[in-house]
Amino acid sequence: MRGIVASVLGRNYVGVDLSARQIAANIEQGKLIVPGNQPTWIAGDSLTVVPEIGLEFDFLVGCPPYFDLEVYSNDKRDISSMSWEQFLAVYRKIIFESVKLLRQDRFACFVVGDIRDKKTGYYRNLPGETVKAFADCGMSLYNDAILVTAVGSLPIRVGHQFGSYRKLGKAHQNVLIFFKGNQKHIPQLFPEENEKEHAPANVEKVANEKKYRTRKAKS
Ligand SMILES: C[S@@+](CC[C@H](N)C(=O)[O-])C[C@H]1O[C@@H](n2cnc3c(N)ncnc32)[C@H](O)[C@@H]1O
Repeated sequence: MRGIVASVLGRNYVGVDLSARQIAANIEQGKLIVPGNQPTWIAGDSLTVVPEIGLEFDFLVGCPPYFDLEVYSNDKRDISSMSWEQFLAVYRKIIFESVKLLRQDRFACFVVGDIRDKKTGYYRNLPGETVKAFADCGMSLYNDAILVTAVGSLPIRVGHQFGSYRKLGKAHQNVLIFFKGNQKHIPQLFPEENEKEHAPANVEKVANEKKYRTRKAKS
């Protein structure tokens, strides 16, 4: 879906997934929905494919396995089938190799959900590990949004685990957005937005908002 949306928006998209079945289905969708600008989908292990891509990108988007929440295959290269330690090491390396392909002054977005350690019941903090992995590549967390997932069924799903163990049910995932570069350059990335802000009709509105904020700060 990410590839289709990117293509509809006129971008050139390159996506990687280990699942050849998933990639074949994506390619079929691309042919039907965006025949004039089909995304490039590569079936393979991101760990080895990403360093070979040899292109630069303006945006990085990813949705990794949430460790063992769903085991996608028994392929040894599938990070959802690894131990937590192996998963983290490979996950961090894939992020490192991907960030290398991202141009300076650009954003990355990773969607991740946290998972509990099946033995201890405590959260592993996958969003935190993701933030650390990006920070170690020089990309700081710039936005953190919440993707709300099925809320209506939560009272049914959570029953016993809250009743006995006071474990809350989960109805969200994290949408983590990172920035690589100098954030002072961000307005220059979106000149059309600046133009809107400085269009005659908006100048007065913006000035009034600034006056209001200054008055509020003083009071
Ligand atoms: C949460 S799904 C995301 C699916 C889809 N790529 C997307 O972004 O919507 C996680 C995917 O990671 C893939 N995966 C697991 N290990 C991988 C690896 N080493 N290299 C590339 N993809 C991997 C699985 O096949 C699975 O499709």
